Amino acid sequence: MEMINYLARRKPAKSLLFSGNLVLDLEFKESETNESHGRFPLNGIQPFLKWAGGKRQLLPYLAKHIPASYGSYIEPFLGGGAMFFYLKPQRAILADLNEDLINCFTIVRDNVEPLIKALNKYVNDEDFYYRIREQESNGLSDIERAARTIYLNKTCYNGLYRVNKKGDFNVPFGRREKPTICEPKALFAAHRALQGSQLIHGDYQQVLKRYAKPGDFIYLDPPYYPAEGYADFKRYTKEFFYEEDHIELRNEVRRLIDRGCWVLLTNSNTEFVRNLYEGFSYEVLDARRSISCNPETRIGQDLIVMATKPAAKTPASIKLHSEQLLENFPGTRYMGSKYRVLPFIWECVKDLEFSSVLDAFAGSGCVAYMFKQRGKRVIANDFLKFSFCFSQALIENSNVTLTPAERDFLIQPNPDAGTFIANTFDGLYFTHDENRLLDSLRTNIEQLDNSYKKSLALAAMVRACLKRRPRGIFTFVGDRYNDGRRDMQLSLHEHFIENVAAFNRAVFDNGQKNQAYGLDIFDLEVEADLVYLDPPYFTLNADNDYTRRYHFVEGLVRQWQGLEIQYHTATRKFKSYETPFSKKETVGDAFDRLFKKFKNSIIVVSYSSNSLPDKGTLVSLLKKYKSRVQVHQVEHLYSFGNQNHKVGNNANRVNEFVFVAF
Ligand SMILES: C[S@@+](CC[C@H](N)C(=O)[O-])C[C@H]1O[C@@H](n2cnc3c(N)ncnc32)[C@H](O)[C@@H]1O
Repeated sequence: MEMINYLARRKPAKSLLFSGNLVLDLEFKESETNESHGRFPLNGIQPFLKWAGGKRQLLPYLAKHIPASYGSYIEPFLGGGAMFFYLKPQRAILADLNEDLINCFTIVRDNVEPLIKALNKYVNDEDFYYRIREQESNGLSDIERAARTIYLNKTCYNGLYRVNKKGDFNVPFGRREKPTICEPKALFAAHRALQGSQLIHGDYQQVLKRYAKPGDFIYLDPPYYPAEGYADFKRYTKEFFYEEDHIELRNEVRRLIDRGCWVLLTNSNTEFVRNLYEGFSYEVLDARRSISCNPETRIGQDLIVMATKPAAKTPASIKLHSEQLLENFPGTRYMGSKYRVLPFIWECVKDLEFSSVLDAFAGSGCVAYMFKQRGKRVIANDFLKFSFCFSQALIENSNVTLTPAERDFLIQPNPDAGTFIANTFDGLYFTHDENRLLDSLRTNIEQLDNSYKKSLALAAMVRACLKRRPRGIFTFVGDRYNDGRRDMQLSLHEHFIENVAAFNRAVFDNGQKNQAYGLDIFDLEVEADLVYLDPPYFTLNADNDYTRRYHFVEGLVRQWQGLEIQYHTATRKFKSYETPFSKKETVGDAFDRLFKKFKNSIIVVSYSSNSLPDKGTLVSLLKKYKSRVQVHQVEHLYSFGNQNHKVGNNANRVNEFVFVAF
């Protein structure tokens, strides 16, 4: 057995070296900033709010990447607006998801004098602070509401903005000696700077879709990806930005560049973010953080600045485009998804000779998609029919997409659709209107006359349902765990529209005849040079039952035909499909049968260190049929939604193995 350890690939040490990327480790001290970038003095005006994550001290560095001329300036994660106030552009579109913030900017722009008058009444007193904090902001006039926002910002702890589950501001009193609550000079300066600005309360994607035009300059400063990843799932804020959101944002950046916009983005200097922006040029900066209780952590090399220009069609940009194919893949938080370890899987097999691949337990389909993108002939299989739809839509299908007219037809109410979903799942997962939409949609999809169009529509519908559900699963009913993130705010209808576009974008032709199947693996008779096996991971204390988690979307795709809904259960699930990978007594034998079945192919198996059978047993089983067995391993932190995760513990940090046998 050969043991290949990938642990060294984890977090790089302080001095950074990345192949193929321009990384400047500037390591500057604050006092050097103006000097070394004298061309970019801080000649703008001070933001009137003290905003956590504000970019004021980075401006000299960000300034280097500002284009000499541009159309509109767009900043859709506005916060305190440090960059905007630095630039003072003629035309700006400023947006944020925080309604109080946008109201405050609007009042500063339009009604600064009454605002100053109102602010003068506020005092720096703890009782007074908590009385103001308790107020319902939407019960106030817009001016009072803006004054309250400024007051809380100036007197709360460290200028933090944090809300609880209900969206109420919950930062404690700051106990600062003499905060300046009302700064007329700063407010008037901001008032003047804002005169040419449009202010929008909204989601960044919608703002960019609607307003970004070629030649515009867009500065993106999203909530940072946390340095420790998203291990702690108890946290919630309405502004919380999860991994998926960061991936979507990166995709958005690409779209903007393709449109010919200038884009500048800041995020944390983490492995995840660097991987996301691989292929872009970026700089690593040492930024001073102003928002930590612990002075030890105030300074850290934690920021990546990447700047891009409207892309010229150079060979490099063409290469980027081919890599984008995988990035287009509409991922979900599918239990056990290998999305994040795809580069590792590819590393393990890239030197082997093979031209066809069977992804035997395709799940979300991302591994099959990666192999398709690498030019292999791919066969994707999973016994779940909704997974089969994903594979049929994106693996087998190479050129069919849904037209806007078809999409619009699909979402039309259909009076003949019946009310099965609305009745059976009333009040469980979605609103009544959304259930009615699903009744119609599911019926309308049957009217499409092309099987690829059908599977595209079904896949878009399933992904819409998964995204609209807290945690993307159906093991509980109601809105528990709704953390207010963007996906929870969009309606099912909006999700469906977005997903039709997402699946359309992901369709591509790799010149091969690829196939999709929806069978139990032991019933599938196909041959491939390489067989990739990623069955449900069996552990003694965690549940690996895919049918139970995803019964609603599986039932929806099958229109519950041949499935017996268990009406006595709160979730209205149906009986889980049998699989030998879910029982201790059968899982070992199931692996043996699998290896035997595919003994003429290169066998590649994904499994994890806390699952059974253990590594040694799997190697022995593989050795029955194959002469060489390599074991590759990497430490992997499963994001939420994977089989070994329980909220509040860290058991989802495991070693991910890839066994390669040939
Ligand atoms: C670990 S997941 C695969 C994840 C996938 N590689 C991805 O990256 O999304 C395991 C999959 O095996 C499927 N499955 C379980 N038992 C099966 C069987 N007997 N035949 C076919 N598929 C099965 C489940 O439906 C599930 O989608």
